[in-house]
Amino acid sequence: MNQLDKIIDTVQQDEALNLCSNNQNTKKLYLESYGCQMNFSDSEIVASILSKEGFETTNNFEQSDLILLNTCSIREKAELTVRTRLRSFNKLKKKNPKLMIGMLGCMAERMKTSLLEEEKLVDIVVGPDAYRDLPKLIKEAETGQKSINVLLSREETYADINPVRIGDNGISAFISIMRGCDNMCSFCVVPFTRGRERSRNPLSIVAEARDLFSNGYKEVTLLGQNVDSYRWNISKKGEVLDPNIPTTNFAQLLELVALVSPNLRVRFSTSHPKDMTDEAITVMSKHENICDYIHLPVQSGNSAVLKRMNRGYTREWYLERIRSIRNIIPDCAISTDIITGFSEETKEEHLDTISLIKEVKFDYAYMFFYSERPKTLAERKFKDDVPLQVKKERLYEVIEIQRKQAFMINKKSIGKTFQVLIEGTSKKSSEMFCGRNSKNAMIVFPKEKYLIGQYVNVLIEDCTTGTLKGRVIKS
Ligand code: SAH
Ligand code: SF4
Ligand code: F3S
Repeated sequence: MNQLDKIIDTVQQDEALNLCSNNQNTKKLYLESYGCQMNFSDSEIVASILSKEGFETTNNFEQSDLILLNTCSIREKAELTVRTRLRSFNKLKKKNPKLMIGMLGCMAERMKTSLLEEEKLVDIVVGPDAYRDLPKLIKEAETGQKSINVLLSREETYADINPVRIGDNGISAFISIMRGCDNMCSFCVVPFTRGRERSRNPLSIVAEARDLFSNGYKEVTLLGQNVDSYRWNISKKGEVLDPNIPTTNFAQLLELVALVSPNLRVRFSTSHPKDMTDEAITVMSKHENICDYIHLPVQSGNSAVLKRMNRGYTREWYLERIRSIRNIIPDCAISTDIITGFSEETKEEHLDTISLIKEVKFDYAYMFFYSERPKTLAERKFKDDVPLQVKKERLYEVIEIQRKQAFMINKKSIGKTFQVLIEGTSKKSSEMFCGRNSKNAMIVFPKEKYLIGQYVNVLIEDCTTGTLKGRVIKS
């Protein structure tokens, strides 16, 4: 692997995380999740559905009766990572033919029966809207048949299922507020793997937030592919559906969740530049406990590329949204997603992305080179004609500029004091705690007498590109 590939690899990770608890029970489930936060949140729903069937989660796959991989299809590399992982279970399956292996999530939905044909180790294939069917599918597989359900739904939100919170720290939790996506960005596989957009009943969302808070959680993140198009009892055209039920848009939902308690921090992801309203930004500014942080993926800084991407906004529109955020919340942190080397992207178009990054100065960015996905609009309409090496060079250029800018932003925090929610022990030192401020910056500081889940005020004394370092001056 050359230097360029190494740098890209550290930024563009397709990491896996396994959910686990260590209780004893008859049937053991090993569940590993890939991809976005939605998938991690779904895994908690799957664990909840299967706990009712007597499955206990374990972190030891060698002792499990059922291995489930919750997969991601967003880029080719994400799928290759899962396939490699799958094959690592080969020996285990030979040793224990009773072991069942299931593929969940976006790759299951995208590949359907071909996943069973191509990957002989797989017994069960289940798409993101069919998890309620898992108990039946597992029973089918126990008889030796292959089982599959990849039906997408227009209604399923799993609103009534109480997720099993097993992978988190007991402080910070995800709440899924909507599913699917109707946007059809030309590069994106999500509308095919997650189906039509649908919003979850606001009452069940608020109830979940209350429940979490009363169980000691201090932070919730509202999740959706495009949270700004959350709508309850409102049609796509904006009409009221049932006059007897109150309507709720995203700004109103955000406020309802913020009102659960001033001690419950509220975050959300992902915002879409074409739909993000000033109403939502104003609600953020009104409530201290809604974090001053917006993830607003731009993808490209060139309007012609954005048009080919079918993003529904121009460079100027995006910059106007940034101005609006900074006008209403002057110190709001903003992060973004960027794709380099999209179909037919010219050097000049790429340079517009660079100039946008320099103009906006993002606090953080997730950066990727374009990976053509089967059946997407871009695959059908455009040529994937930017050579891989050029895609990677453009990505490297973006990464370098972003790193420098993030470091400068971090340096400006030295001498400032932030309220930090303590999330756990720092990965680098057992003597230090880590936690984030409202702006989502990761901060490490000596543990002293403080406790996980506590809010403390930390004075920043030093920084790296990714982390702020300091000490508690007041708890
Ligand atoms: N709903 C979010 C994005 C979800 S996917 C939004 O609209 O912003 C997360 C990110 O993966 C995207 O923002 C994009 O930057 C990246 N991505 C999606 N499809 C990709 C592809 N085919 N190649 C490379 N990156 C991709
Ligand atoms: Fe994909 Fe676009 Fe939907 Fe995001 S908004 S999930 S990028 S189609
Ligand atoms: Fe991946 Fe599916 Fe999320 S494709 S990014 S797991 S919605």
